[in-house]
Amino acid sequence: MGDAPLPVTAAITGASGALYGVRLLRALNDAGVPVRLVISGTGWRLLREELDITSEAELRDRTGDWQLVTVYRDDDRGATPASGSSPSRGMVICPCSMGTLASIAQGTTRSLVERAADVVLKERRRLILVPRETPYSAIHLENMLRLTRAGALVLPASPGFYHRPQRIEELIDFVVGRVLSQLGIQHSLGPHWQSGEAD
Ligand SMILES: Cc1cc2nc3c(=O)[nH]c(=O)nc-3n(C[C@H](O)[C@H](O)[C@H](O)COP(=O)(O)O)c2cc1C
Repeated sequence: MGDAPLPVTAAITGASGALYGVRLLRALNDAGVPVRLVISGTGWRLLREELDITSEAELRDRTGDWQLVTVYRDDDRGATPASGSSPSRGMVICPCSMGTLASIAQGTTRSLVERAADVVLKERRRLILVPRETPYSAIHLENMLRLTRAGALVLPASPGFYHRPQRIEELIDFVVGRVLSQLGIQHSLGPHWQSGEAD
């Protein structure tokens, strides 16, 4: 019997594109990856405004089996994801608001999401940020560069169109597939590279 897969900390924050976070949670569930889930207050607002999801139960209904999901409160900065001594595969914040991104860039750790990301960076584990903002200010770009230099991966919610998507779900899967690939999780989401296609 192989070792149990390491958990991923998955956070949903208050950037538009809650559907990306929901799809990612479902994909991690489907892959049998343990998930430590944290949702910011504004993340909940976006789940409600964009998807009519108002409770954990409704989120569970949209994301399958939660046997391997543990939910933590964003105001609990002492929870497991806040500790570097607890092993993990890394963390993904999807979608990631510019507010959360800025706080991580500054190391302020004023919430569990920010603290968990700070810990992932200091432990040299994978930190994937999926921002959604347009246009970017110089401050946004500087924060993204600072985080990239600190070891984070900025993976914008920028789906490609070379696979000629017909449905929103195909655009969502394009981005979520990239996140899963970066976490080293096998998947069948999104187009697979063929000669002549762009990144
Ligand atoms: C409806 C709504 C949509 C928003 N969309 C975005 C967005 O697309 N990108 C972004 O960076 N911030 C967006 N914001 C702003 C963030 O939610 C705000 O900065 C918040 O303080 C972030 O907090 P959090 O990162 O703890 O969730 C939006 C806010 C609301 C209420």
